[in-house]
Amino acid sequence: HPSVAVRGAALLPPSGDTPTDVPRQPLPVESLPFTSYGSALKIGLPQPLRAGQLLTVEIDYEAGEGPGVCWLAPEQTAGKQKPYMYTQGQAVLNRSFFPCFDTPSVKCTYSATVTVPEGFTAVMSATSWEKQKDNTFVFKMSQPIPSYLIALAVGDIVSADVGPRSCVWAEPCLIEAAKKEYDGVIEEFLVVGEKLFGPYVWGRYDILFMPPSFPFGGMENPCLTFVTPCLLAGDRSLVDVIIHEISHSWFGNLVTNATWGEFWLNEGFTMYAQRRISTEVYGSAYTCLEAATGRALLRQHMDNTGEDHPLNKLRVVIEPGLWGVNPDDTYNETPYEKGFCFVSYLAHLVGDQSKFDAFLQAYVNRFKFQSITADDTLGFFLEYFPELKEKGVDSIPGFEFDRWLNTPGWPPYLPDLSPGEQLMKPADELAELWAADSLNMEAIEAVDITAWRTYQLVYFLDKVLQKSPLPEGNVERLSKMYPKISKAQNAELRLRWCQIILKNNLEAEYSKVKDFLHSQGKQKYTLPLYRAMWGGAESARALAMETFSATAPQLHVNVQNYVKKILGLEAAE
Ligand code: BES
Ligand code: ZN
Repeated sequence: HPSVAVRGAALLPPSGDTPTDVPRQPLPVESLPFTSYGSALKIGLPQPLRAGQLLTVEIDYEAGEGPGVCWLAPEQTAGKQKPYMYTQGQAVLNRSFFPCFDTPSVKCTYSATVTVPEGFTAVMSATSWEKQKDNTFVFKMSQPIPSYLIALAVGDIVSADVGPRSCVWAEPCLIEAAKKEYDGVIEEFLVVGEKLFGPYVWGRYDILFMPPSFPFGGMENPCLTFVTPCLLAGDRSLVDVIIHEISHSWFGNLVTNATWGEFWLNEGFTMYAQRRISTEVYGSAYTCLEAATGRALLRQHMDNTGEDHPLNKLRVVIEPGLWGVNPDDTYNETPYEKGFCFVSYLAHLVGDQSKFDAFLQAYVNRFKFQSITADDTLGFFLEYFPELKEKGVDSIPGFEFDRWLNTPGWPPYLPDLSPGEQLMKPADELAELWAADSLNMEAIEAVDITAWRTYQLVYFLDKVLQKSPLPEGNVERLSKMYPKISKAQNAELRLRWCQIILKNNLEAEYSKVKDFLHSQGKQKYTLPLYRAMWGGAESARALAMETFSATAPQLHVNVQNYVKKILGLEAAE
């Protein structure tokens, strides 16, 4: 492994510029000794210091093998010519990138001076940057942020403008496609976000298209979202990921969960904000359809784990002995989709969308640049709506706030998705036809799917998957009838098609599973497919082993470990 040698001042919480209008409570700190990614750096003081006295600590260190910094060989990039490096901090990986208070309860500004070899460009999650001589880049983040949002990428990358405050970054061979995908669309999302949630405080909003092994759809690094190149679908159909990451500009990056046990405060509010923006831009029919696919993911997850699983609560206890101490091991659909339901429930209690929008804006304004817990959120909600507090909405039997937070299981309230009915019903009916013992080809052929949008096809495929295995021969016919699906290049469609192949044990199409897993390394695509293979026929298990031994070196080390665990190769920590 190459390594970076960095010398600089350690991160210290901002001294003078902390907002003072809000009384500061002691914040819960992640109390657990989580040592897998390194060990604590203890610094003794040469002499006692007065309280309030400013102290500068300089630490010389090298980042090497840790999971936070990813070193890619040229073959692991799109262009295959030059190496690449990037960091992924969330949840607790940045402690292996630089010494820091690696908890979301602490925020600070940062600056960095990065020298790279000739022919490389460095980018960071920073509000300003400047290129100096000798391939040195100087970055500055002028707003306080938690450690997990500090991010760096270095590669053969170039940029192209796509809006007045936005550009896309990508390897030269992808830049045209990247520009085409998002030219002229980003600004509208930002403007709608600002209208709904208040000022966008981060200056620029740029997007970096990562190498194919990037483990997430998107990562909301401030000023510079990192995204999977799978988003380059050619038709903007996966833009909901961008809207999601933009929504984190208010929920997550401005108002931050104080501990990873309350991750739903980041993701649940962001899902709600994403769907508010989507409703404004694309209307409620499309947005409800997208939300229905999210609900299907939550259903799948709860079916797999059992509703009562302790991770199916919004507030998760992260303690040694339960699921280890790595917050990433608690990652699942609950904070996203049950969190979305809870925020939708709060909106439902208010009853008026514009009043709830105003509340969200006040909430962001009240807690911006702070890290908070659900108690802060819900306390503010009741304070903002005294008439609801009066009515005791926090303790309506079956819908108690405490139950939402601390009881596992299916959400007690589901928002109404019926505005999406016009798009869902034809897909429901078509899935029904394909699940029949003897196929009614006349009825099937009467349905024209050529004009269906990606999410309508995704919804249809989720229904087919739920009904799988289908009666003998049906999936083969479906595959022939809809090359738009079985030969799709769109990653969301490919995932579903691969899942259907495996659930129906369609060995003739196994190569599609293999090709998809060779083409990208997103965790949310990779793990469900390995689980399906491992739970399937002997031939599917063999496919899993063969595919993993070929692709393992490409995968992010955390994804590698999760796959190993699924395949019983080695316990992930
Ligand atoms: N912040 C998350 C990604 C993340 C979560 C990284 C936990 C590490 C630990 C990001 O905002 C996210 O949720 N991405 C989703 C996008 C989707 C919900 C639209 C993804 O990657 O699939
Ligand atoms: Zn998110």
